[in-house]
Amino acid sequence: MSHNLPDRLVRTVQTLLACTMLLGSYAGAAEKLAHVTILATGGTIAGSGASSTTTVGYTAATVGVDTLIKAVPELSKVAQVKGEQVFQIASENMTNEHWLTLAKRVNTLLAQPDVDGIVITHGTDTLEETAYFLDLTVKSRKPVVVVGAMRPGTALSADGPINLYNAVLLAASKEAVGKGVLVALNDQIHSARDVSKTNTSTPDSFKTPELGLLGYIQGSKPYFYRASTRKHTADTEFDVSRLASLPQVDIVYGYANVGPVALNALVAAGAKGIIHAGVGDGSLAATVKTALVAARKQGVVIVRASRVGQGILARNGEANDDELDFVAADTLSAQKARILLMLALTRTSDTKAIQQMFYTY
Ligand code: DGL
Repeated sequence: MSHNLPDRLVRTVQTLLACTMLLGSYAGAAEKLAHVTILATGGTIAGSGASSTTTVGYTAATVGVDTLIKAVPELSKVAQVKGEQVFQIASENMTNEHWLTLAKRVNTLLAQPDVDGIVITHGTDTLEETAYFLDLTVKSRKPVVVVGAMRPGTALSADGPINLYNAVLLAASKEAVGKGVLVALNDQIHSARDVSKTNTSTPDSFKTPELGLLGYIQGSKPYFYRASTRKHTADTEFDVSRLASLPQVDIVYGYANVGPVALNALVAAGAKGIIHAGVGDGSLAATVKTALVAARKQGVVIVRASRVGQGILARNGEANDDELDFVAADTLSAQKARILLMLALTRTSDTKAIQQMFYTY
């Protein structure tokens, strides 16, 4: 620098140079951050209540994705984020058509080189189902993280902002690559296949009781301790790209004094598959068993699941599945067995092949 310039000018130029280098380094660092797209579908994470103490009785699906992103400026420290409002619904209204639209959008985005991961914000009521549907239909190893909240953003200690921040940093992480679709709430990382909503209203509602969570998010970093042993995402045989609809599969529930009325009505309405969420290890009440056998004779595929929530539904345990030509759900809940059977029926109606899918996914 020339020595005959006034000191003040020299110092100004030096400061400007330092700022330019700092900004350049920030821009460079920002550019190095992964590109994560947030697909918003509604739910409590996008909900609002009448007061800060309203944690039940609020309205879900009222806040748009741009507002959700603006409410968490820290997102820009962990990823380059874009948002899309795919739907704006309470998730009890999620349908097969919504799932097909969402899966196709996810696959289109993940095929783009400028998208490194995806976060889906979702109501918690059917979050585990959407996550598992995507676990079977996403055709990429890039991270896909489904996130929700148990309290609306207007509530004291709302969990949505931190859950969204954690989900984005997880979707931006190298550690999440190839792990299948993940569910991240309450600082925990769960597999889409095994997680379920276990409490109607508390922030720790999502659990994987016996098979266990995959890891934690702590101090803006994901820590994995396990991985699923079942095939998922790019390794499944299911391709929804050309599907306009899914086969109708319904669930009937077992309980004391149950009769065949509900089952017969669903079969008469055209169900192609029935999941029987039985008591215990999938036991069949005599009257219902008769109706299931009749449904099987009409070509309806029957899967025996359990209502209890944990454990292996053993083939040929409480019923002779070989003789009845039924399928055993293994460790899938009834609501997840329905998803796998729907996708299986897009490929085959052979019950031996379908049983193998329940041992594979
Ligand atoms: N209506 C419920 C839903 O959209 C609200 C529950 C929630 O999102 O936590 O799933």
